[in-house]
Amino acid sequence: MIKQKKRKGIILAGGSGSRLNPITKATSKQLIPIYDKPMIYYPLTTLMMIGIKDILLICSPSYLESFKNLLGNGENWGISIKYICQEKPEGIAQAFILGEEFINNNPSVLILGDNLFYGNEISQILNEANLDEEGATLFTYPVIDPERYGIVNLDKNKKVISIEEKPTKPQSNLAITGVYFYDKDVVTYAKSLSPSKRGELEITDINKLYLKKEKLKVKSFSRGIAWLDTGTFDALHEASSFIRTIERRQGLKIGCPEEVAWRSGFIDDVKLKRIANSNLNTSYGEYLVDLISKRL
Ligand code: G1P
Repeated sequence: MIKQKKRKGIILAGGSGSRLNPITKATSKQLIPIYDKPMIYYPLTTLMMIGIKDILLICSPSYLESFKNLLGNGENWGISIKYICQEKPEGIAQAFILGEEFINNNPSVLILGDNLFYGNEISQILNEANLDEEGATLFTYPVIDPERYGIVNLDKNKKVISIEEKPTKPQSNLAITGVYFYDKDVVTYAKSLSPSKRGELEITDINKLYLKKEKLKVKSFSRGIAWLDTGTFDALHEASSFIRTIERRQGLKIGCPEEVAWRSGFIDDVKLKRIANSNLNTSYGEYLVDLISKRL
């Protein structure tokens, strides 16, 4: 039996977030709250839910300490979190150059630190991509404003014809979401890129290379899945409301790392109890207590 290589997880939380000023004038976009938790908890738990335990967080040097204060080395959640700084926002694809040593010739999954996914099928769909070690897998989602995203154009047999980054006249409404699975070659591809007109190493250019080599798989997230935007004040508010609505209805949290770690068996009851006890004066801590005592 061929031994499966361990896929490494990268969360990119760089960027200046200037579109959300003044909220992001003194903090990172990915640290601001979406309802009851920092935004970064959502992509982090998305990776944890598919069993990714070896994670690299890439952020701007100004907020490295804040991220470390919040997430630590991951030990509390039974995972490992390492950090690297992206000095300037020079593109999503740069993550693979910065992360070369961390990736260490393994397959990887990159998730953008401001992308929120929610839905029953998410883990299953991402898990399929996780188990596939060949080539690249992307996920699309229908949106009403495709000009704001990377988009995929398909022919009538649903075969990918082309990929474009923020086209002024989009040919399709299928946006490429911010979670990308790659084989080990992604580092070599990233190194071969030149900066785009906006001075960035574009993730879309990496995906175009995989497409050219016929190694690109594109899957679609169905309408039963929510991929939430956090790029504008209204989108932020709506994302918070969405999470709040579901959490208050079910009494269950979305994007709670302690819970995901516990349910995934990364930590046991004793460890969860210890974390819960150190947060007892908050509803968040009470929730963790209930997880154990009421077996929510
Ligand atoms: C980036 C990518 C784009 C992708 C989007 C998903 O855009 O360049 O292809 O569709 O993330 O969130 P950005 O958020 O940098 O504008």
